Amino acid sequence: MSSPSIATQVSQAVSQALSPAVGNCTDPGCARHAGTTQCPPLATMRSSGAVFGEAVAEAWYAAGGSRLDIPAGIVAALALWPHKSSGASDADALASYIDAQPPHVLVRGFADCADSYWGLRPDLWEAARPLFRWTREDLNPTELNGVQAVTRAALRHGVLLYTGDSDPAERSRIDLMSWIITSLRHGYSTHSLGEHHTPPDISHLLASVLDVGRASPRGDWFMDPAAGTGGLFRCTAQELRREGLNPADFGWVMLDLDPLAAAGAAVNAIVWGLGPRAVVACGDALANPDLDKEALTRQRGLARHRDSVVAQIGFAIATRTTDQLLCALTASR
Ligand SMILES: C[S@@+](CC[C@H](N)C(=O)[O-])C[C@H]1O[C@@H](n2cnc3c(N)ncnc32)[C@H](O)[C@@H]1O
Repeated sequence: MSSPSIATQVSQAVSQALSPAVGNCTDPGCARHAGTTQCPPLATMRSSGAVFGEAVAEAWYAAGGSRLDIPAGIVAALALWPHKSSGASDADALASYIDAQPPHVLVRGFADCADSYWGLRPDLWEAARPLFRWTREDLNPTELNGVQAVTRAALRHGVLLYTGDSDPAERSRIDLMSWIITSLRHGYSTHSLGEHHTPPDISHLLASVLDVGRASPRGDWFMDPAAGTGGLFRCTAQELRREGLNPADFGWVMLDLDPLAAAGAAVNAIVWGLGPRAVVACGDALANPDLDKEALTRQRGLARHRDSVVAQIGFAIATRTTDQLLCALTASR
């Protein structure tokens, strides 16, 4: 799906910025009016990846859910939740707050959370969209129940304890997107897609045997043409950190045939702090040997598009505000 047109984005942003707050709001997704601040504590724990994945998948299927994008998208949105704290010290308070919200408020919160990254990384935002499109749909009651059940399971099993840390090295201890996607898939589709991600221990071993920290000069590019959710790069980045290097100083190209896996890789690129040269594309790396180059060109195009939209929003808000001030002044005479 293509990006929304510049005109649509500008007009939505200007209306949002200039419309007065509505007193009798009936929007079921509005956190201010439909949300709650009565938030009982929620017991959380750092479960292993396997336990986390199974618990979230079980919560989804027990609630009657069938599609994969909703539960995987919930984990992605929670992992991207913009509030981070040192040692994830705020994770439990945040978990209680999120857990207490009604389903419509959760859905809107997840949409807003994903959208907050458009300004920062429009290319990764676009690659991650298969995980968030459902937030714009009119979900049925079964799906809404599932949203609440999955959110609670993910929070209980520690999604924010893992990903709510302000230090990207801490957030890179686990590949939650891989655990949730592989746990959700039924045996058959996992097999047919060849979607068996390399176990974390083996990935760590590979990164350390290859001694990537010493062998890779600053600024080097890494490329995985069948990246899954990027598990090999998580270990590579951690190995670089162990050598005192910053993964954000390197380039990372992740390609994958499966839209959900590629979307998971885009989320991980942000969560793990892979930096401005992390590129993700969904496509067949065997059939299209130029997929990586096309992704780099697209990344630059989307950044230009974002800059143009932001500039036009600023101009439109300034001129509309001036217009409103002039009207008020004229009316008062
Ligand atoms: C075995 S997993 C490996 C994932 C990751 N590299 C790792 O080691 O954890 C294989 C991945 O390759 C992807 N894949 C299979 N054929 C592909 C192709 N022709 N182009 C791009 N990705 C492909 C699958 O979707 C799957 O996510």
